[in-house]
Amino acid sequence: DLLQEIKWLEELFTVPTAKLKEITTHFVAELTKGLTVEGGSIPMNPTWCMSYPTGYETGTFLALDMGGTNLRVCEITLTDKKSEFDIIQSKYRMPEELKTGEADELWEYIADCLQQFLSSHHPDEKIDEMHLGFTFSYPATQNYIDHGILQTWTKGFDIDGVEGENVVPMFKTALEKRGVPIKLTALINDTTGTLIASAYTDTAIKIGCIFGTGCNAAYMEDCGSIPKLAHMNLPPDTPMAINCEWGAFDNENKVLPRTPYDIIVDKESPRPGQQSFEKMIAGLYLGEIFRLVLLDLHDNKEVHIFEEQNLDKLRKAYTLDSSFLSLIEEDPFENLSEVQFLFQNKLGISATRPELELIRRLAELIGTRAARLSACGVAAIAKKKNFETCHVGADGSVFNKYPHFKARGAQALYEILDWPAKKSKKAEDPIEILAAEDGSGVGAALIAALTMKRVKEGN
Ligand code: BG6
Ligand code: GLC
Repeated sequence: DLLQEIKWLEELFTVPTAKLKEITTHFVAELTKGLTVEGGSIPMNPTWCMSYPTGYETGTFLALDMGGTNLRVCEITLTDKKSEFDIIQSKYRMPEELKTGEADELWEYIADCLQQFLSSHHPDEKIDEMHLGFTFSYPATQNYIDHGILQTWTKGFDIDGVEGENVVPMFKTALEKRGVPIKLTALINDTTGTLIASAYTDTAIKIGCIFGTGCNAAYMEDCGSIPKLAHMNLPPDTPMAINCEWGAFDNENKVLPRTPYDIIVDKESPRPGQQSFEKMIAGLYLGEIFRLVLLDLHDNKEVHIFEEQNLDKLRKAYTLDSSFLSLIEEDPFENLSEVQFLFQNKLGISATRPELELIRRLAELIGTRAARLSACGVAAIAKKKNFETCHVGADGSVFNKYPHFKARGAQALYEILDWPAKKSKKAEDPIEILAAEDGSGVGAALIAALTMKRVKEGN
C-alpha cells in the first residue's frame, strides 16, 4: 500500500546527521582545493571585490540584475547618511525562449531593458555617463572586475557562443549600438552582491548566499590562502571575495546521496555532470524531482498511484516549479483540500486521500533535503574560515518563500556543528542566516563604488 511507498521515499530522501557531517567534511576539502592552481570541481572564482563597505560610500549607480527568473534594473543612490540608500527599480520578465536562444538576442534584450529604464526615469534629460554594476549570476573567470569569461551556463540556460567568452564586450556592443551613456564598472555575481549589500548594514555578515532558482555562496578570503592568485604577488592579508559556485560541489559523485530521480534530472539537463549539488537543492529542480517521483510511482511501481487518471500534464518536464511545492507544504487543512484543489486545477488529477498524504510527505521530504544539504555548504565555509559565530545574508525565492526552509536549515546546522541546545527560544544561533535587504541591486552599486575608490587610490 501507499504507506510502504512513503516509507521507502523517507529512506531515500532523508539525510541523517552522520551523512550531513560527512558531506560537510568533504565540502571543506573541496573549497580549499578550488583555490589551488590545479583546482577542483568547485570553481572558487576570485571576484576582485576586495573590501567590505564602510557604510559611507556615496554616489548614484545603475545596477542590472540578470538572475535566472527576472531581469531587474535599478538606480541606486548611496546617500551620505551611514548605510542609507535610495532605490528606484523596474522588473522585466526574462523570456523563456531567450534562455536557449541566440547570444545576440540576449544582449539586445538586456540592453533594451536598460534603455527603456533610462528613458522612463530620465525622459528628456541629457544624463551624464552613469556607472553600472552588472550582476551576471553565472560562473565566470574574472581577470579583473569588469571582465568575465563564462565558464558554463547554469540554471537551464543554454545559449551558444558565450561559454569560454568574455561577456563584457558582448554586452557593451549592444549598449554602444543604442548610444546609452553607461560605463560598465563591475561585473558581479548575485552572491557577492548579497554579501556586500548585507555587510553594508550588518558588520557580522561573513557569507552571502542565494537559495533561489540556483544555489551558491560567496565569502571574503585572504589572498594568502588563494594559491591560484600567488602570481599576482598581492599582500597575503588582502581580502578577496570568492564566488564559490558551490552548485558544482561533488560533480564527481563522491558523497551526495543522489537518488535515481536526481540522476534523471541531471541526465536530461542541458549540462549533464555539472552542478550536482545545485540540482538536488535549487528551486529550478525541486518541482522536477517531485514530478519524476510521482510519475515513477504511477508508471513503474505496484501501487500505481493516480489510477485511471490522465497524466498528460504531469508528463511535461519542468511543469511544476518550487512554488507548487511551497503551496503543497502550506496547505493548512487537515484534509489537504488545498493540495487536492492544486492537483485538480493545475494537473487535472483527482487525488485520493492516501495519495494526498503521499504528495504532502514527498514535498516535505524534498524541501527538507534541500534545506539540510544547503546547510552543509554554509557549515563548510564556516569551518574553513573558523567562523564560530557569524551572520549569513541570504536571498532568493526558496529562502524567502519556501515554508520552513530557514528552520530546517538551522536545525541541520545544529546537527552538523554540534551546537548545544538553545537556552531560550529567542537566543540567536551561533550562525544565523538572515534575509538580505536588497541583495544584488545595492550590492552592485556598492561594488561599483568600491571599485572606483580602489582605482582612484591606484590599487
Ligand atoms: C534576487 C536577487 O533577489 O534573488 C538576484 O536580486 C538573485 O540577484 C535572485 O539572482 C535569486 O533568486 P531567484 O529565486 O530569482 O533565483
Ligand atoms: C547558479 C549560478 C551562480 C548563482 C546561483 C544563484 O548556481 O551558477 O552564479 O550565484 O545560481 O543565482
